[in-house]
Amino acid sequence: MHIAVIAGDGIGRDVTAEAVKVLAAVAAASGRPIAFEHLPWSADHYLQTGETLPANGYDLLRSFDAVFVGALGDPRVPDNRHARDILLGTRFELDLYVNYRPVRLLDDRLCPLKDRGRTDVDFTVFRENTEGVYVGVGGRFKAGTPDEVAIQEEINTYKGVHRIIRHAFEHAKTRGLTKVCMADKSNAMQQGHALWQRVFREVAADYPGISATHQYIDALAMFLIKDPGQYEVIVTNNLFGDIITDIGGALQGGLGMAASGNIHPGRTSLFEPVHGSAPPLAGKDVANPMGAILSAALMLDTLGRGEEAAAIERAVEAAVAAGQTTTDIGGSLGTRAVGDWIAERVRRGY
Ligand code: NAD
Ligand code: IPM
Ligand code: MN
Repeated sequence: MHIAVIAGDGIGRDVTAEAVKVLAAVAAASGRPIAFEHLPWSADHYLQTGETLPANGYDLLRSFDAVFVGALGDPRVPDNRHARDILLGTRFELDLYVNYRPVRLLDDRLCPLKDRGRTDVDFTVFRENTEGVYVGVGGRFKAGTPDEVAIQEEINTYKGVHRIIRHAFEHAKTRGLTKVCMADKSNAMQQGHALWQRVFREVAADYPGISATHQYIDALAMFLIKDPGQYEVIVTNNLFGDIITDIGGALQGGLGMAASGNIHPGRTSLFEPVHGSAPPLAGKDVANPMGAILSAALMLDTLGRGEEAAAIERAVEAAVAAGQTTTDIGGSLGTRAVGDWIAERVRRGY
């Protein structure tokens, strides 16, 4: 198995080192090797060479079984050009239309909500990942003047909306779940989100055993805090999915706990923690590596190595239960020590 690794910027590097450490540990324990190819694509690389990724970059990524990313984003690149090419560009070029973001609380003590726990925070968000406002369609007129006009279009296509909604229902069906909630803003966005309404009804009709509900995204954001236990599967557009999965991160104890996959079923897909490069924490051995490590587990699971994925998840849960964590979730260990503990646990517990 060949994995491309783009550690990227800031704490992306810190947490990726730990994810790779844990992957190497599980590969050694299972006897199923994993080869890593480290790609230098990052803000540093861009600032030094002027290149975000090489001309054959996306083809190169396609030649791997999967891509693992730490995070991209650096204050020295204020227009975020390199992150757009490397991260968003890969989502678009590899057509990774499913942004799979499970929200699962690993320990009651990590829940920020009063009187809530593991049974209340256990759902999955499917974020459309190739359309919406992210496509960059638009432009500016009279930029920099008091007359500036800025247009940023939101693109919704039947194909794009259909495939993510279908994927959410299929996920529910194969896992024996019975609830899918679609969130949009069709009361205000009467064109694009009318399409979401129509497609949701159309697809839901094929799944009579699944209760298909709709909430406006503002109400859903509120209910995620007030009553997260009502959700099993949430499906929404690119921007709303981005926002609510940061709330999802908080529900899991903090952004450092949240994992994700950018997936095109059957093709080379990309796995990364939900969090960003958190520049103030970079290189200080303080970032929580668990979101990255859980993303690595998600990657193995998607690639059909479910036992190894489960071993990693068990080890992360054990670390949380034993208080072997970074300070953001109440422990006193550094990034590397958490990675060491989990890797060792994987070795012993496989
Ligand atoms: P961020 O996720 O980097 O950080 C937000 C907050 O969460 C910070 O207070 C940080 O301390 C905390 N946090 C995040 N990850 C943590 C971890 N692993 N351990 C402990 N605490 C953690 O978001 P931001 O500050 O808005 O963005 C910083 C940069 O990252 C920006 O350039 C942004 O564009 C980029 N970004 C990249 C990705 C990605 O590559 N997928 C995702 C989000 C943001
Ligand atoms: C994420 C990030 C990205 C996004 C940024 C870095 C463009 O926030 O993966 O959640 O908005 O998709
Ligand atoms: Mn985000």
